Amino acid sequence: MGDAKAPQQRGGYAEEVSAEELAEIGLRYEVDGEIATVTLNRPDKRNAQTSATWSALARIGAGLPEQVRVVVVKGEGPSFSAGIDLRMFTKEGVPGQGSFGSASRQDDSSLQRLVDQAQQGFLWLRRPEIVSIAAVQGHAIGAGFQLALSCDLRIVADDVKFCMKEPALGLVPDLTGTKPLVELVGLAKAIDICLTARIVEADEAFRIGLAEHVVAGGDLDKAVADKAAQLLSTNRDAAAATKRLLQGASARTLEEQRAAEGAEQAERLRALFNAQS
Ligand code: ACO
Repeated sequence: MGDAKAPQQRGGYAEEVSAEELAEIGLRYEVDGEIATVTLNRPDKRNAQTSATWSALARIGAGLPEQVRVVVVKGEGPSFSAGIDLRMFTKEGVPGQGSFGSASRQDDSSLQRLVDQAQQGFLWLRRPEIVSIAAVQGHAIGAGFQLALSCDLRIVADDVKFCMKEPALGLVPDLTGTKPLVELVGLAKAIDICLTARIVEADEAFRIGLAEHVVAGGDLDKAVADKAAQLLSTNRDAAAATKRLLQGASARTLEEQRAAEGAEQAERLRALFNAQS
C-alpha cells in the first residue's frame, strides 16, 4: 500500500488531503495500484461520521487517481459505522464543526446547501469508471447504512446489523441512501425498513438483495479482495461502459436502452479495432 495522498486527476479539487488530516478526521486512505481503500477509522466511537468525514470523502473522490478501478469502503473495529456523530445534534456540536442546532436557525437554502455538501461525500462512489464495494461488519446505522448503500456492492460479515435510524430520530435519510434502498429491496420493504427503524441482519440482507455475499467476520477482507480481483479481470473501458448502461437502464424505455447499447458498442468496436490496427 502506498500513496496516502489524493492526487488531483478526476474532479479538479486543488487541495490534497494529507494522511495526517485524514487521521485527525478519523479516516485512512490507501491506493494500491487499481484499488483504493477508504477506512473509517474511529473504532472507539464506532466510526461515527461528522461533516468533516463527508467533506474529506468528497475530496478523496475528487482526487481519485485515474488508474483506480475499485474503491473499497470499510470500517475499523467491531462496527462499520454507527452513523452520524450524535454530538452533531447537541448544542455544543463537534469541536470546530458546529452543530445542526446552530445550522437549524439558518434559512431553507442554507440548510439545503449543508445537505448538498454532505451528499458529495457519498455520490462519487457511483461513478461509472469505478466499482465501489462496502465491506460491512457489525452495525451500519443511519449514515453508516447510507454509506454502504452508496457503494455498488455490499459484502457483509455474518454479524452485520443494518438500521435506518433517521425516522426514529425525527429525521429523513438524506445522504443519498433512499434511491438505492428502494432499487435494491423494493418500495414496500424500504418502507418497512425505514419507517420501523428496525435492524436487518445478515440472512435477511442477503435474501432481500442488500448484500451480495455474507461471510464469516474473519473472511471479510479476503472476500472483498477476491471480488476486487474478479472485477479487475475485465476490460477497464468495457466495464465503465457496461456500468453506464446498467445504471441508466431503469430510467430508459427498452427502445432507449437498445439505442444506448448500440451507441456504447459502437465506441467499443471502434476502440477494439483501432487498438489492432
Ligand atoms: N455518535 C457519537 N458517538 C458514538 C456513536 C455515534 N453515533 N455511536 C457510538 N458512539 C460512541 C459511544 O458514545 C461510546 O463512546 P464512549 O466509549 O466514549 O462512551 C463508544 O462509541 C462505543 O459505543 P457503545 O455504545 O459503548 O458501543 P456498542 O458496541 O455497545 O454499541 C452501537 C454500538 C449499537 C452502534 C451504539 O453505540 C449506538 O446505538 N450508537 C448510536 C447509533 C445512532 O443512533 N446513530 C445515529 C443514526 S442517524 C444518522 O446517522 C443520520
